[in-house]
Amino acid sequence: MCGIVGYIGTQAATEILLSGLEKLEYRGYDSAGIATIWEGEVNCVRAKGKLHNLRSKLEAIETPAQIGIGHTRWATHGKPEEYNAHPHMDTAMRVAVVQNGIIENYRELREDLKEKGYVFRSQTDTEVIPHLIAEFLKNPPSLHSPSPFFEAVRQAVNKLEGAFAIACLCADFPDELIAIRQQAPLVIGFGQGEFFCASDTPAIVSHTRAVLTLENGEMARLTPLGVEIYNFAGDRLKKQPRLLNLSPMMVEKQGFKHFMLKEIYEQPGVVRACLEAYFTNDPSSPINLGLPAEFYVDLEQIQIVACGTSWHAALIGKYLIEQLAEIPTQVQYASEFRYAPSPLTANTLTIGVTQSGETADTLAALAMEKERRSGKEPKYQPRLLGITNRPESTLGQMVSQIINTHGGLEIGVAATKTFIAQLMAFYALALDLAYGRQTISPDKLEEIINSLRQIPKEIEATLEKQEHLIEQLAHDFAETTDFIFLGRGINFPIALEGALKLKEISYIHAEGYPAGEMKHGPIALLDAKVPVVAIAIPGKVYEKVLSNAQEAKARDSRLIGVTPVKDGEAAEIFNDLLPVSNVDELLSPILTVIPLQLLAYHIAARRGLDVDQPRNLAKSVTVE
Ligand code: F6R
Repeated sequence: MCGIVGYIGTQAATEILLSGLEKLEYRGYDSAGIATIWEGEVNCVRAKGKLHNLRSKLEAIETPAQIGIGHTRWATHGKPEEYNAHPHMDTAMRVAVVQNGIIENYRELREDLKEKGYVFRSQTDTEVIPHLIAEFLKNPPSLHSPSPFFEAVRQAVNKLEGAFAIACLCADFPDELIAIRQQAPLVIGFGQGEFFCASDTPAIVSHTRAVLTLENGEMARLTPLGVEIYNFAGDRLKKQPRLLNLSPMMVEKQGFKHFMLKEIYEQPGVVRACLEAYFTNDPSSPINLGLPAEFYVDLEQIQIVACGTSWHAALIGKYLIEQLAEIPTQVQYASEFRYAPSPLTANTLTIGVTQSGETADTLAALAMEKERRSGKEPKYQPRLLGITNRPESTLGQMVSQIINTHGGLEIGVAATKTFIAQLMAFYALALDLAYGRQTISPDKLEEIINSLRQIPKEIEATLEKQEHLIEQLAHDFAETTDFIFLGRGINFPIALEGALKLKEISYIHAEGYPAGEMKHGPIALLDAKVPVVAIAIPGKVYEKVLSNAQEAKARDSRLIGVTPVKDGEAAEIFNDLLPVSNVDELLSPILTVIPLQLLAYHIAARRGLDVDQPRNLAKSVTVE
């Protein structure tokens, strides 16, 4: 939510900031702005709407400034208007600040600052920060601080409550950029005589691969000479940068029209990377998740917290863990669980699933769980596991164990390849648990792992068969306003995911239902204008899904079947077939989701919508 970038060095800052913001637009795109220092003044330029509006404005007023900060916004406090766009400045227009997060105590601070004569020009929580810094700059400089600006920022930050990442500069200190992290991500980049800060690494990877991820309660002072790291008490810390495993190519579309389509096509590779990481060729130890034995000891219960698409992956995880390892498993919306947790259960593993590792609700639910279990008797002690695509994220710092999902960087706002990677992590975890508890025979385990190894080829075949087919089908739904997705058993969460993808990027109202629930109410919605997508995979619930599909057909709905079966009853009832390969029902979600991703993509693309940056959404939801 919101992207921050900062630069200090020897090149013109404006273009570096703009291209950095382009890579962060997935975090928010309702307005943007940059502030640079040139000839003793802060030049602050902001524009409502997408980044190209800011770019056009800057064409007329570009300066050779070599220091600057930039921001792309996802509105929390205040409408997406230019006056609410960041950077925000103090009354004297000397200090400029960009922020990602929420300042919870901004109301008190604002009243206090107003009484002191500071003039507020926006409705945002962020605007208190430049005024506070200006107020602290009035204090006599401290001998123990590296600079008066750093000291004023440090004192201001100590007054703030909430979760935030900040970058700021001041016209009176043109060789200093200060970056702060408190529960919102921020990385520092180290170039040759130039230094960067950003909410995420894609913004700086074309300049440097040497980065340092700030931890909560840390501040960085960037000057043309280097970077110093401090804590909020002002103590200097020793920290070493690391090398990023990310190339500038990975943040380009590589010939695809949209990142989402590129990421859909990357899924066979993602599954291969997960297979490589999680499974071995050693029959005595076939699964390798690197989790400590104490995680599994006396395990009685598993609870999973997540949001959105990650929550759908968690539902499939529950199915797998319960069916294969026979451990009762609950899946909770993180945003609900954090305020109404289930009563404490003994010997419980809590799993947080978040591709970004930064989702505020998921982190807060895990923090709450950790806190309420700490200090209790041993059987209630927290066992926290994170499943994430970003092991270096805040989640990574918070839990004791991580399963890395190997999805690679995902830029399209709608999650696709990271969902597939989360499913792979759950297959590996469920099999590992089942193997350890001997609820699966070695032969069955080997059979499932062998079938998983075939999945990349099957995804490739599905993509090849269906791209064109679905592109054609999408023509018919350019004007459709409602869709229903039906699935049962392990494919019910895929119905939810298909509906979510369609809602997110095509703005079509869509519902995912367990097929058997239709007759208990939602069937009243059906008529010839409401297409129904049914996932029908031979197995435990195949016949049942077909019967439920028949019920929809009897209400005149156009029926689209995601199924490997091309003849018999399936061929008769479905108006359109989206064929997938015939795999075991247990593994089918990794395939059945592919046509639904493509359907959502092609309908949105046909409608001419902004597939990678759908309205009102942000990739990383770092606010409550
Ligand atoms: C859907 C989507 C969102 C995220 C949700 C959780 O396409 O991207 O629903 O899944 O915001 O995000 P993470 O997984 O980063 O916690």
